[in-house]
Amino acid sequence: MLDRRHFLSTTVAGFAASLALRGNLFAQLEKIPPMPDHSLLDKNEDAYWAEIRRQFLIPEDEIYLNNGTVGSSPAPVLRAIFDGYATTEKMDAQDPEDYPIWGYAAWNEFRDPLAEFVGCKRDEIALLRNATEANSYIANGVDMQAGDEVLMTDQEHPGGEHPWNLKAKRYGIVVKRITLPRPVKEAAQVLNLVNDAITPRTRVLFFSHITTFSGVVLPAKDLCALARTKGILSAVDGAHVPGMMRLDLHELGCDMYSSSPHKWLLAPKGSGFLYVRDEVIDRLWNTIATEGWNDPKLRAERFQRIGSSNVPALWGLRASIKLANDVGLDRIERRHRALADYILAEMQKRGAESWTSPDPALRCAIVSVNVPPIQRMELENWMWTAHKIKIRGGDPHKLRLSTPYYLQKKDIDRFLTKFDEYRREKKIA
Ligand SMILES: Cc1ncc(COP(=O)(O)O)c(C=O)c1O
Repeated sequence: MLDRRHFLSTTVAGFAASLALRGNLFAQLEKIPPMPDHSLLDKNEDAYWAEIRRQFLIPEDEIYLNNGTVGSSPAPVLRAIFDGYATTEKMDAQDPEDYPIWGYAAWNEFRDPLAEFVGCKRDEIALLRNATEANSYIANGVDMQAGDEVLMTDQEHPGGEHPWNLKAKRYGIVVKRITLPRPVKEAAQVLNLVNDAITPRTRVLFFSHITTFSGVVLPAKDLCALARTKGILSAVDGAHVPGMMRLDLHELGCDMYSSSPHKWLLAPKGSGFLYVRDEVIDRLWNTIATEGWNDPKLRAERFQRIGSSNVPALWGLRASIKLANDVGLDRIERRHRALADYILAEMQKRGAESWTSPDPALRCAIVSVNVPPIQRMELENWMWTAHKIKIRGGDPHKLRLSTPYYLQKKDIDRFLTKFDEYRREKKIA
């Protein structure tokens, strides 16, 4: 048991350490300069992106090639979150019924900019925590009988696949998978595979817009149109899409869409969304139920009624949308593609087998390559512990390299140099 003196000294030490840390964080944010002016782009594009890089807390000597797992929120987003706390935690809202954790609000001030950013109506968006939660809402909320089928790919993320596996175990629905080629060479391959796998029992087509496994950008618009002609619901896992490339949900034509903007939009963790096409809203059951769950007038707002929530994260989400608009999404997407194309070409020069699509329309900012006999986990550890370079892969030999727009070309070059060094050290030809 702790004695009182020891308890006090450890508690005080912990408190002091946390204060120091807090001071340190705000001090770091204060040191970050304002966003660079666009005019710098015309004068010196590299200098512009180098200034953008300074907006992040990622240490200067660290190279982060794993934005596909989770993004780093830059200074404008972090400041907005803290502003959210500073404002809401005063408990002085004009409305005596208003609280910072309130889970019974329309949150239109956050849904409006998001809806505009992703091309849909505010009433079709529910603010949830992430793609996993939104995917669970979809799988759990769609009426299906035992023997009904959901069709998906073999490259779904566990947070997309398992909500359906749960439904299969509990209610006897059937999960069917097509095997995507590695790499997918053209859209027609995917469309044919899906078309051939649809049966009279298929009720839902579920797929990742961009897969976590290889980063392939699937032909989502055509797949959703195919589902529509067959009378099948389309549900798209778009965890990677907002902020990586332009997204227009109405143009895409899907029935449901889930996402995790903490990845490429660099939004706070815990600020995801679910889109449900207006015509489909009344067909989807709530998973979490509280006041309003059965009120069709709320439209998609009824899905975001999940009890008390983290409202300052929504302040951060709004700031991340503003940031992407300020930098310019077309510019961001161009940069994503250029960096990814560069790293892919360099890896191919080094003999890596590309699992990234050769069709530029089917790839964006995630590159995947197979590099046997290199064991990806050994390389991952070596890169991180010895060289502060974060990569991600899949066993046994796959590397997944993400190229967020704040990455510098010299960062990629350093990764490539270290990759060569590793091969020399391990005597890999
Ligand atoms: C395609 C896809 N779906 C879902 C997820 C799960 O995201 P989250 O943990 O934010 O719910 C990921 C995460 O990598 C993903 O790549």
